[in-house]
Amino acid sequence: MESEINDSRWDKEDLKRLDEFEESRNLVLRATKQLFLDFCNHNLKGDERVLEIGSGTGFLRRTMPYEVKEWVQLEPQIAFLEEAKRRFPEGSYICGYAGEIPFPDESFDVVCGYGSCDVLINLNKDMKEAHRVLKKGGLFFHMLDLHPCDKPIIKDFEDRHNPIQEFGNYKSCSYLETESISYIPEDRLEEYDKLEEIISKDSYSERTEKKIHRFWKKYGEKINTHDYFDKKIIQALSDYNFNSIEKGKLTAGFKGKRTEQQREQEERYFVFFNDAGKYSLYPDSTMYNIFQLKFPAMLNPLPMLHESAYRTLNHVFPSLARKIEPSCLEVSSIRYVKARK
Ligand SMILES: C[S@@+](CC[C@H](N)C(=O)[O-])C[C@H]1O[C@@H](n2cnc3c(N)ncnc32)[C@H](O)[C@@H]1O
Repeated sequence: MESEINDSRWDKEDLKRLDEFEESRNLVLRATKQLFLDFCNHNLKGDERVLEIGSGTGFLRRTMPYEVKEWVQLEPQIAFLEEAKRRFPEGSYICGYAGEIPFPDESFDVVCGYGSCDVLINLNKDMKEAHRVLKKGGLFFHMLDLHPCDKPIIKDFEDRHNPIQEFGNYKSCSYLETESISYIPEDRLEEYDKLEEIISKDSYSERTEKKIHRFWKKYGEKINTHDYFDKKIIQALSDYNFNSIEKGKLTAGFKGKRTEQQREQEERYFVFFNDAGKYSLYPDSTMYNIFQLKFPAMLNPLPMLHESAYRTLNHVFPSLARKIEPSCLEVSSIRYVKARK
């Protein structure tokens, strides 16, 4: 590994956070592997030199069921790189930032990221670097299976001096939970400033809180963080003359026996689902029928033991029910942006 870089936004403590991501990801890991394979079969040949930016502890490389000529993981946080190396010793690891990629021009056939470009504060400058190190005709792609990191979005609004509010549930991990951001638009800023002035003179009261709440409700513009990030990265890619820019959602499924983690999660859930930021478990009931409509190919022939049948069996012959392992369905759904140099 080259040099140690101090990044205050991502430190050793955040290893725990990456592991939290991974715990959720593991619920649909087999479906995600299928998704990666479909994507690679469609976009790669297998002889590529790949650079992954912001690779963290190496989830993408470790999960990727597709071989390429070389896969270099670029990551500023040395603790993450070391952990990635421990989990997957045969990889190539370089310590560095996306804004200063320590490679010459046109070194890579593919530059990619997984849940990483959304954390970049200088996304535009960083896409210039991605363009520089890509060979002509090379592929750039970024996949996002979480809600986009809100920090760069919040910073964009701070720079514009528009007050913002974040909405989400911060119980566990903010990247999984931040769903939307609301801001006061330019034409309401004056009014908002006046309100702030009144409020700062007022001591805290329920009345003042209600006033603010009403203002936000009436004038706050809600932004969807996914749409915001997609728009921003597509703008940056087109600023640097990337071609064939495309965004979309990839979905893949897997059906089979439950893993130990899935079994531990909850005895009666047989459907595991992630949808770009929302990891959930659904009981094998009405959702099962919805999935049947949505993904008929994955569910044919029907692999599931219905929850009601399982419950009856469990009631009448509990020891037999314990021996029968019901099948489960994993569905993995990931947003992506891709482009060619
Ligand atoms: C949300 S984590 C995702 C890590 C990994 N790709 C994953 O999906 O598990 C974002 C990663 O981007 C890295 N990062 C932050 N700023 C960066 C920069 N300027 N250049 C490259 N990577 C950066 C962080 O250290 C962190 O590992």
